[in-house]
Amino acid sequence: MFEPDLMQQIRDRFCHVDHCPFQGARIFFENAGGSLTLKSVVEVNTELAGLPDNQGRDNPASRELARIIDAGRHDMRLFLGVADGPVFTGESGTELLFRLVRAAALGTPSGGNLVGSTLEHPATASAGKRWAAIAGKEYRAVKHDDASATVSAQDYAAAVDSDTRVATIIHTSPVTGMAVDVESIVRAIRARSPDCIVILDGIQHAAHGGLDVDAYDIDGYAVSAYKVFSRHNYGFAWVSPRLATLPHDHLDGMPADFWELGTRDTSAFACTSQVVEYFDWLGSHFTDATDRRARIVAAGAAIHAHERDLIALMIDGDGARRGLRDLPEVTLIGGPDNPAREGLVSIVVAGRPCAGVVGELNRRGVRTHVRKADYFSGNILEPLGLPTCIRVSLGHYNTAEEVLTFLREFESIIAAPRAAASGGA
Ligand SMILES: Cc1ncc(COP(=O)(O)O)c(C=O)c1O
Repeated sequence: MFEPDLMQQIRDRFCHVDHCPFQGARIFFENAGGSLTLKSVVEVNTELAGLPDNQGRDNPASRELARIIDAGRHDMRLFLGVADGPVFTGESGTELLFRLVRAAALGTPSGGNLVGSTLEHPATASAGKRWAAIAGKEYRAVKHDDASATVSAQDYAAAVDSDTRVATIIHTSPVTGMAVDVESIVRAIRARSPDCIVILDGIQHAAHGGLDVDAYDIDGYAVSAYKVFSRHNYGFAWVSPRLATLPHDHLDGMPADFWELGTRDTSAFACTSQVVEYFDWLGSHFTDATDRRARIVAAGAAIHAHERDLIALMIDGDGARRGLRDLPEVTLIGGPDNPAREGLVSIVVAGRPCAGVVGELNRRGVRTHVRKADYFSGNILEPLGLPTCIRVSLGHYNTAEEVLTFLREFESIIAAPRAAASGGA
């Protein structure tokens, strides 16, 4: 785990790290619902919100906005690890993924099929179903494995054939916390359909362990800003040169690979630059490299390692405190020994309604979340016969002490007489 001094420096850079303005002291284990926000993001956002100038004018303010946008675009490339193909912002991760899937479904030869998986969030699953039907393609959902709570290359291989024109993949599930082996899935797809347009939903993964999009051999990748230390109301995406130039909503007169529609929110680019600057700063503690991309990669590896240790503590406990695996009434979705897990555990407690446990944790100052078998999580929970689960999701700014506090409160809640933590499903 991070050394205490670095941990303090990290925590100092985020807003509301241990305190909720509406509740008071609290531990934040709801990172899959939205990460903490960097203070630098709030500062730059506030500065830019007051500027009246628009882009594309011959005045100093407008030129500064253009510079910020260019720098933001450059930083998005560094963060994602992409050389060619445009990067652009959109309203949300969902909106961006719908645009990518739509262009791929309509822009590839008609007929054939579009393959996704039951592990996916509706951002790609709904888009895939809708645009496959409109484009005259069969929609195929690869069934994920309930026991490991993830999806494999073999699972995709069974569904993909030479007529697969488009495939969608979720990088990490926000319900199970399991990442997929992107490279092996893409190899399995390309072995059967070399020209398939492959689109990844990177929204849950982006804050948890480094991106290397060029290495994935894919065509599209989308990230939500509020899931990776920035603010709500924008996301950013990359598309490969060949997906970039498929027909898409586009302003006449702009280059064929231009995807932006209307005046840019300069602050979205400035905020992203602050996120990338943060990765750069964090990475500088783990490598002597002067190259920014190398430092960003080092930050991703360090985040992954710190979160892996926090998760191990949560599951295994330490000498003094029992972990989740030691509590007989607790079941971990995906099992306790799952190497695919990234920064998140989803659990159920025999005989305890999840909402009651989450409510009681909240009263004790530990923020977690109930996932219900609704449109967002039913794909995972229904096959397991679960109406709900408790999601405990970490960020790299969380500490071992916070994990131990969670374990202490959780164990005392589930040991209490039933009525204390009941109510709701
Ligand atoms: C994997 C995944 N995809 C898509 C989304 C939707 O992102 P947004 O809220 O930016 O539309 C989420 C949000 O939780 C997610 O976790």
